[in-house]
Amino acid sequence: MATNSSLASVLGVLFVFTLFHNLITVAGQNLPQVALFTFGDSNFDAGNRKFMTSVSLPQNFWPYGKSRDDPSGKFSDGKIVPDFLAKFMGISHDIPPALKPGADISRGASFAVDSATKLGTPKDSLNLNQQVRRFNQMISSWTEDYIPKSVFMIFVGMEDYLSFIRNNPTADGSAQKSFVDSVTTQLKYNIELLYSPGASKFIVYTLPPLGCLPIVRQEFNTCNDCYEKLNNLAKLHNAKIGPMMNDLATSKPGFQFTVFDFYNAVLRRRQRNLNYRFSFTNISCCAIGTHNAYGCGSPNAHSKLCEYQRSYLYFDGRHHSEKAQESFAHLLFGADPNVIQPMNTRELITHSVNANMSEFWKEPVEKNLLFDHHSVVNARAFM
Ligand SMILES: *[C@@H]1O[C@H](CO)[C@@H](O)[C@H](O)[C@H]1NC(C)=O
Ligand SMILES: *[C@@H]1O[C@H](CO)[C@@H](O)[C@H](O)[C@H]1NC(C)=O
Repeated sequence: MATNSSLASVLGVLFVFTLFHNLITVAGQNLPQVALFTFGDSNFDAGNRKFMTSVSLPQNFWPYGKSRDDPSGKFSDGKIVPDFLAKFMGISHDIPPALKPGADISRGASFAVDSATKLGTPKDSLNLNQQVRRFNQMISSWTEDYIPKSVFMIFVGMEDYLSFIRNNPTADGSAQKSFVDSVTTQLKYNIELLYSPGASKFIVYTLPPLGCLPIVRQEFNTCNDCYEKLNNLAKLHNAKIGPMMNDLATSKPGFQFTVFDFYNAVLRRRQRNLNYRFSFTNISCCAIGTHNAYGCGSPNAHSKLCEYQRSYLYFDGRHHSEKAQESFAHLLFGADPNVIQPMNTRELITHSVNANMSEFWKEPVEKNLLFDHHSVVNARAFM
């Protein structure tokens, strides 16, 4: 009897273990359980700004969060890219704002703050360096071996270039180049500051076509065109990212990275909008002005809200709708090297810790052929 019951309990334990184990495997898609940390500006702000100011912020009010009935300080009608990516990584909740007292940061946190730049110190915000230092102060919240396994995702620079072009509309080529150099140097420096205490897996976004943002078209009166000067600045910036990350990986043991070609991911959605099921890509869903680009969420702007958020690429003047954000997260997680290279997030997470990378970032071979505005391309080749 005694033997039988102990056999039964052993089997029971085995059975429960198997069930439980399978559940974890399914939820995490067989990936190691790691954290996701994000850094940058409003695109990744999960609600941090609220904890830095007593002023009331538009992003905490309707119609932000409209699709989820939850204006949570995120710049979208609902969730943002890191929330979807977290879900694909098997994390059962959204990535919380690091500055929120008592937040569950065990599977990562957002250090990004609205209005953040790489250079300069905006009022009531944190620039990239301040975010990184904040993370380093909190690093003992996670075990030492957890940090090198976890993912560090950075998307910043939009605010730097928008204010540069506003303040220096006539900047010539060499002024532009030296500004781009100072921004990318800061980025590199801050990645090194994360690597020093143990971070080793990095995802870096390229900048989107900034000149196509509804707020930019509206401000610069470009009607239905993009402001090419700003797009060119974004391209100058983007051209530096891959080589810079290669440098880091060849000089720092165990340094792993990937670069998300956000510029072309957005451009494709603009150029073949119907394939991607967006009816509107040149104006935003929420706000006022020629391109509905200004004042979403501001009580005194009486902003308009579109009827159906999912048909818009942009929710407000410079941020994407939840539908677009979800599609970007899918690309980050699983797309081909023509979208994210040298590997996607799933591959980055499963690449052994401390191992060097097996491939590096490469200049896209057919760049001009594939991304020329006027050429007819085979849309099926892209995600
Ligand atoms: C947006 O694009 C559509 C279609 O190309 C065009 O008819 C419309 O004028 C554009 N709107 C603005 C504000 O540029
Ligand atoms: C890994 O890369 C570092 C430089 O980043 C190099 O010193 C080291 O030899 C490499 N290790 C292997 C096993 O290739």
